[in-house]
Amino acid sequence: MTTGAPDRSRLSAVVTGGGSGIGREMAMRFARDGAGVVVADQNADTAARVAAEIVEAGGRAVGVKVDVRLQDEVENMVALAVSQHGGLHILANSAGVGEQMAFLKQSIAEFERIVAINLTGTYRCIKVAAPEMVRSGWGRIVNITSVAGMRGSSGRVSYGSSKSGIIGMTRHLAVELAPHNITVNAIAPGPVNTDMVKAVHTDATRETYTRNIPMHRYGTPTEISDAAAFLASEQASYITGHTLPVDGGMSSTSSIFDLD
Ligand SMILES: NC(=O)c1ccc[n+]([C@@H]2O[C@H](COP(=O)([O-])OP(=O)(O)OC[C@H]3O[C@@H](n4cnc5c(N)ncnc54)[C@H](O)[C@@H]3O)[C@@H](O)[C@H]2O)c1
Repeated sequence: MTTGAPDRSRLSAVVTGGGSGIGREMAMRFARDGAGVVVADQNADTAARVAAEIVEAGGRAVGVKVDVRLQDEVENMVALAVSQHGGLHILANSAGVGEQMAFLKQSIAEFERIVAINLTGTYRCIKVAAPEMVRSGWGRIVNITSVAGMRGSSGRVSYGSSKSGIIGMTRHLAVELAPHNITVNAIAPGPVNTDMVKAVHTDATRETYTRNIPMHRYGTPTEISDAAAFLASEQASYITGHTLPVDGGMSSTSSIFDLD
């Protein structure tokens, strides 16, 4: 059954946090799959660089500076998708910041900073993008949450709470947007080798993660973008409201022992 997906050459996608890591990989993948892409990032240089890479490879893309905390910049991002690519069908929310900080040492201001970017930023982008998808008659929203939104861990109360919020938001929006032929899903990566991870993971953190992941390795941005490409496709037409862990089995595990 087809649910009215636009022809691939008419697809329009926006990727927040598209200048780096998982967002960059999703932007490149959506472009390879035929979409015109708006690469949005608070870092204007990396957004422009990724868009240029896509164009050099024969795709359609434009980069734009967007801080997901700023309403006017988010509105400009969606308007750009419409003016450049004729509408909006796919939104991938990857803009985010990490943390590794003990709760007892943390300020409320730090909690609010993380939530403003990761959770409210995701909400804002969907809020502005969804009406365009309603107009298009077909939509795919892919939110990037985290295993930290599903499981407890050390030093991650603000980050984990923001990511749990995204999982809840995904379920609730799936219900409200289903009548408009828009699916809303999330991906929960385990640790993936990106700039964010390089900034916060010490050797000890890496050793602990590697031991506790059944596949005993970090994921790659491509493994996340492969899942995003599926959830953003017509093939995922009857999947909505779900969070898919892409984590080498991490979220299914309580403890791992060496067996003889
Ligand atoms: N790397 C991992 O191990 C991992 C695991 C689970 C979830 N995630 C999530 O994946 C997403 C991407 O992370 P990544 O690892 O690719 O990190 P990254 O640091 O490589 O990329 C994040 C991008 O978001 C942008 N960004 C940050 N704040 C922004 C803001 N206010 N407005 C717009 N853009 C902003 C950054 O400039 C950067 O380009 C994040 O939401 C992160 O929480 C990452």
